[in-house]
Amino acid sequence: MKFIDCTYELHAPEILAIFNHAILNTTALWEYKARTTDTMKIWFETKSAGNFPVIGALDEQGTLIGFASYGTFRPWAAYKYSVEHSVYLRQDQQGKGLGKLFMQELIQRAKTQGFHTIIGAIDADNKSSIAFHENLGFEYAGTLKQAGYKFGRWLDFVFYQLILETPLHPTED
Ligand SMILES: CC(C)(COP(=O)(O)OP(=O)(O)OC[C@H]1O[C@@H](n2cnc3c(N)ncnc32)[C@H](O)[C@@H]1OP(=O)(O)O)[C@@H](O)C(=O)NCCC(=O)NCCS
Repeated sequence: MKFIDCTYELHAPEILAIFNHAILNTTALWEYKARTTDTMKIWFETKSAGNFPVIGALDEQGTLIGFASYGTFRPWAAYKYSVEHSVYLRQDQQGKGLGKLFMQELIQRAKTQGFHTIIGAIDADNKSSIAFHENLGFEYAGTLKQAGYKFGRWLDFVFYQLILETPLHPTED
């Protein structure tokens, strides 16, 4: 699969549609209201400011299949080697082995950028995402109970993390 770097100009509407499908129909994202195009501008600006990748791939019609990205885990200096990731495929592209390819590419980017751990915060009921991350070598790292409320019920979330061998020479700059 050929991966591209997504841009606001070319891919914001397609990423927005994927986000909004997840927001309105699932507990993968803990938001109530559909996002607007304005939020996508800020989203891309934040990625760009942090030098974080937004990778995507296109189908034969040139339409975005999905995307994967990471960003700041917590905004304090000593967390600088940690990132929190997200990976979302269009509904009709799920379950075909593509998500795994996206994550392999994203993990490679994280190694190249010298990060040390990739963290996924997953809705505890999202069993397919949990199985997917375990399949990629991510390990369970804890549960936060009733940390969210959506669709009339409390939601737990679980942390999963992958430790990387990078960076070779961590610093405290
Ligand atoms: C989660 C998601 C990115 C996974 O991508 P995908 O393309 O559907 O997953 P893949 O087909 O690449 O699966 C990769 C591996 O995980 C395993 N896996 C995926 N879903 C699984 C499930 N429900 N149960 C067991 N194993 C599962 C597959 O068996 C496969 O293993 P294999 O390589 O040994 O065959 C995708 O389904 C998605 O976008 N879901 C909706 C959004 C979402 O929940 N994002 C994550 C938020 S934390």
